Amino acid sequence: MELSNNQKRMLKALRSRPDETWGLDEVLAECGWDDQAHVAGAGLGLAENGLVGIEASKTTVWSLGPEGTAALENGLLEQRLWDWLEGQNTDTRSMKDLQNSEVASKQESGIGVGLLKGLGCALDKGAFVLPELTDAAIVTLVARKSFLEQCVNGAGESDLDAELLAHFRKRKGLIESTEGTTRTWSLTDAGRRLNDSTLEERLQVVQITPELLQGEEWREADFKPYDVELDAPIPAGGRPHPMMALTERIRSIFLEMGFDEIDGDFVQTAGWNMDALFIPQDHPAREMQDTFYLTNPEKIDIAQNFLDDWTAIHERGGETGSTGWGGSFSEDESKKGLLRTHTTVNTVRYLAETPDVPCRVFGIGRVFRKETLDRTHLPEFHQIEGIIMEPGASLPMLVTTLKTFYEKMGYPEVRVRPAYFPYTEPSLEVEVKWRGQWLELGGAGIFRPEVTEPLGCKWPVCAWGMGLERLAMLVLGLDDIRQLYISDLEWLRNQPLL
Ligand code: PHE
Repeated sequence: MELSNNQKRMLKALRSRPDETWGLDEVLAECGWDDQAHVAGAGLGLAENGLVGIEASKTTVWSLGPEGTAALENGLLEQRLWDWLEGQNTDTRSMKDLQNSEVASKQESGIGVGLLKGLGCALDKGAFVLPELTDAAIVTLVARKSFLEQCVNGAGESDLDAELLAHFRKRKGLIESTEGTTRTWSLTDAGRRLNDSTLEERLQVVQITPELLQGEEWREADFKPYDVELDAPIPAGGRPHPMMALTERIRSIFLEMGFDEIDGDFVQTAGWNMDALFIPQDHPAREMQDTFYLTNPEKIDIAQNFLDDWTAIHERGGETGSTGWGGSFSEDESKKGLLRTHTTVNTVRYLAETPDVPCRVFGIGRVFRKETLDRTHLPEFHQIEGIIMEPGASLPMLVTTLKTFYEKMGYPEVRVRPAYFPYTEPSLEVEVKWRGQWLELGGAGIFRPEVTEPLGCKWPVCAWGMGLERLAMLVLGLDDIRQLYISDLEWLRNQPLL
């Protein structure tokens, strides 16, 4: 049988008067403890070993109410009033004087009068008169205070003075009762018979410190084993928002795959956002109800050579061999200011600037669409965009690049399906398998000549654009996209580190 030091000490205490039944206070005193948890813990351990018997009985326990705590801090109301009265002259002891003083609030002075009368004071023509003999009142005041002190840590009803208890029960908020259990402890025969030598307290090492190791005592000590299965608090420190962390991870994957990062403005023209991508000017996605057009700036200038090229391409296919969309191209429509609806505008503008330098670039940016907010849609979201322009850039290269990216993200099962975008041919939809289901995460393809010719691109261009929040939903296992942005601290704290 392994007894803890506390158990040994308590057992020794009980053995000092082996036939006694011990109450809490006696055990505390004999063991030299002030925490009743020691008694409860050690007592229980001893009982489990059959050395001590425990008797439990239900009792009412009285402790301080909020007013009682305040009274111990500031003095009981009757004490404060009494002190005030003693300090006043006979002609400044009226009810009015009391109300004007700061001893008691208006409400308190009403109750206070009753309390003072209880202490033997009288009211004579509106002025207080102290009793002739003050001893009894002072005794009462002291008794009341020590009654409250008794209740600070909870006192069993049978230990309290019945008269004072009856008094305080009638007053509001001073004391309150709970049903509790009182225990007594007594030795069993096994406890009596135990050999004294087993009760030697040994040094128990809970924590290894430099001081401990400098001495010799530890050589004989008992080491308390760590319980690695105990629940431990989860530290809640500052950390990046999951979207920041995810963005950072995606960024490092593309950088490690040899891509450079590019950026662009939220405010763009319809020309660069759409016309440069050969999106017809009467395309439904260009309508007011889908795109945020700006009133300021309503129009933004575009270099005339691009407007001319797009006119030729859109109306007749330009020099590309395409027939174009027909109709007539509007430069005014092209100059309209809007919030970019995809980040493809960034890669296209990048190509326009350096069409004759091979490149692998990516960008992660915010886009805007007039979507109704729901489980899977946000009017502002982010795209992961990228292009490869180099000699021999091809569809297999594009597919391999995307597969590699998702594999590095932890989604090895990727498939592509035919799709349609006005600016790519062929066009792909990228899908990732998640929990047994194929989920669409983005679009990709090879830019059409109608896009690359006016820009002056020297080589084929692989291009893709994928939803960041969609990917975040997979990574974090969400079924509502809005969860990402509602600043739910509890949820944020519980997110994995990405
Ligand atoms: N811009 C497309 C979208 O917003 C994605 C895409 C980018 C498709 C590049 C093909 C090529 O969904």
